[in-house]
Amino acid sequence: MNAPVQPDRYAVLGNPVAHSRSPFIHAAFAEQTGQSLVYERLLCPLDGFAAQVRAFAASGARGCNVTVPFKQEAFALAPRHTPRAALAGAANTLRFDAEGWWADNTDGVGLVRDIEAGAGLPLAGLRVLLLGAGGAAAGVLGPLLAARPAVVVVANRTAPKALALAAAHAEWAHRHGATLSAGGLDDPSLMAAPFDCVLNATASSLQGAGAPVPARTLSPGALAVDLMYGPAAESFMAWAAAAGARPRDGLGMLVEQAAEAFHAWRGVRPDTAPVLQALRATMPAAR
Ligand code: ATR
Repeated sequence: MNAPVQPDRYAVLGNPVAHSRSPFIHAAFAEQTGQSLVYERLLCPLDGFAAQVRAFAASGARGCNVTVPFKQEAFALAPRHTPRAALAGAANTLRFDAEGWWADNTDGVGLVRDIEAGAGLPLAGLRVLLLGAGGAAAGVLGPLLAARPAVVVVANRTAPKALALAAAHAEWAHRHGATLSAGGLDDPSLMAAPFDCVLNATASSLQGAGAPVPARTLSPGALAVDLMYGPAAESFMAWAAAAGARPRDGLGMLVEQAAEAFHAWRGVRPDTAPVLQALRATMPAAR
C-alpha cells in the first residue's frame, strides 16, 4: 500500500508574525483551487532568519512568504530572482526549487491589481503620488511604473531617500513612458498639480498623523490608498474621506500579492474577490 501523500508545506516568516493574515488567505486559495497544501506562521529571531528559512527548506517545505524585517535578507539569500524583486532589492516570496531558491516580490503587482481590478482605476496616463521611500515604497515602485502612469512623484520626509529610490528606477520609468520625479514632502514644485491616485507607503497613519501632505494634493474623487490595513490605515483613510477622495486600505493589496505568490508556487491563479470579502468579514469593523 502506498503511504498517504502529505500536503505541500509553506509558511510566512517574519518578526512579528502573529498578526499575519496570510495563513487565512492561502488556506482559502487552496480550498478554492483544490490544491493540497498547509501554510503556517514562523516567528524568526531578528538575527536568525537565514538559519530558520534554511531549516524550513531542508525539512521538505516548498516555499515561503517573507515579511518585515527580512525581505532584503530573503532577496540576498536566493541566487535566482525576478526583475521586479531586483528593482525592489527585496523579496516577499521564495520558492525552494531543485535548481536553487527563487525569489520574487509580489507586493507591487498586488497593489497595481488591487487599484486596477479591485478599485476599478486603470493607472495608464494618470498622475500618481507615492508617499514614502522606505521598504514598502521600494517594493511597489517598479510595478507601479510598469502600469504606465503619465507621472509618478515620490515624496518622502527625508528627501535624499526619495531621490535615491527614483534614481534606481529612472531607466525603468523611461522604458515605461512614465515621468518620475522625487523630493521632500515640503517641495512645492512636486505638488503643484493634484494627483489622481495618492499612495501612502509611510508610517504616518500608524502614528495617527493622517497624511503627511495637504489635501490639495488630491484631485476631486482621487483614489487614496494606504498600503497598511486595520487600525494602522484609519487616520490616512479618514483624511482622504474628509477631502472628498476615495479611501482604500491595503487589504486588497494583501490578497492580490498572496494570489501572485500562490500562482508562482502552484501554477494556478485563485479568484481573489471572494477571499477579500471573507477576509474583510473577519476584521473588526472600522470605527
Ligand atoms: P517600511 O518598510 O514600512 O517602508 P521603513 O523602511 O522604516 O518602513 O519606512 C518608513 C517610511 O515612513 C519612510 O519613508 C519614513 O520617512 P523617512 O525616510 O523620512 O524616515 C516614513 N515616515 C515615518 N513616519 C513618518 C511621519 N510621521 N511622517 C512622514 N513620513 C513618515
